[in-house]
Amino acid sequence: MSDSEPGTAPTIDLREAMRTARSLRRFRPDPVPDEVLARCLEAATWAPSGSNAQAWRFVVLRSPEARAVLGPAFREGWDWVRTIYGQSAEPPAPDDMSRQARLTRTMLHLVDNFEKVPVYVLFCYRLSGFVSEFIEAGSIFPAMQNFLLAARAEGLGTVPSTWFTFGEDKLRSVIGMPDDWRIASLVAAGWPEGRHGPVRRRPVGTVTALDTWDNPFLPS
Ligand SMILES: Cc1cc2nc3c(=O)[nH]c(=O)nc-3n(C[C@H](O)[C@H](O)[C@H](O)COP(=O)(O)O)c2cc1C
Repeated sequence: MSDSEPGTAPTIDLREAMRTARSLRRFRPDPVPDEVLARCLEAATWAPSGSNAQAWRFVVLRSPEARAVLGPAFREGWDWVRTIYGQSAEPPAPDDMSRQARLTRTMLHLVDNFEKVPVYVLFCYRLSGFVSEFIEAGSIFPAMQNFLLAARAEGLGTVPSTWFTFGEDKLRSVIGMPDDWRIASLVAAGWPEGRHGPVRRRPVGTVTALDTWDNPFLPS
């Protein structure tokens, strides 16, 4: 459980939070108190958005009706990911400790235990019709990232997921979402079974250019 007092947000060095907010998919059953979730959601509202429109809505999902939609959606999403990566339907062999096998196991755990995830949060945005949906979505993902970092500071584990798309129509109906709103992402959150740890990313020199596409900004 987090060591935070109700109403008091724990602090963590910002760079350390960014460096260690890797996705966690195994959660303990302990509930996430509303005040902890509220602090993370407040951090989400501090994100920038085009024209400061803040055309977002965060939907906290705990209902059995929403979980009934998410279960089959997660299973279908997993099948889709598995097919894309050419993985077998069987779980990895117990002695396979490769990175891929560990990732597969943790994804499978999330799929098999979707109903035990303490809470899900949907990140939704309203279409203005002035710019492309792609650009409009740019005004919701900063809010999701603020949420992920605030959750990291609280000691919560999180993982974003696109698997809700496999049950999106039903989910929209369960929550009564108006037609001009879109779901950008779903985040599963809870007190982690495992530990936060460093993310693995390509070095900045390999993904950054100076002035022209192939001119390195930094040595790689
Ligand atoms: C928009 C988005 C969608 C994602 N969808 C899923 C998902 O459906 N299932 C899942 O297990 N992880 C999902 N992830 C987590 C990524 O797999 C993860 O961030 C990536 O592999 C890097 O690992 P790390 O977060 O542990 O550093 C998603 C991440 C993002 C940003």
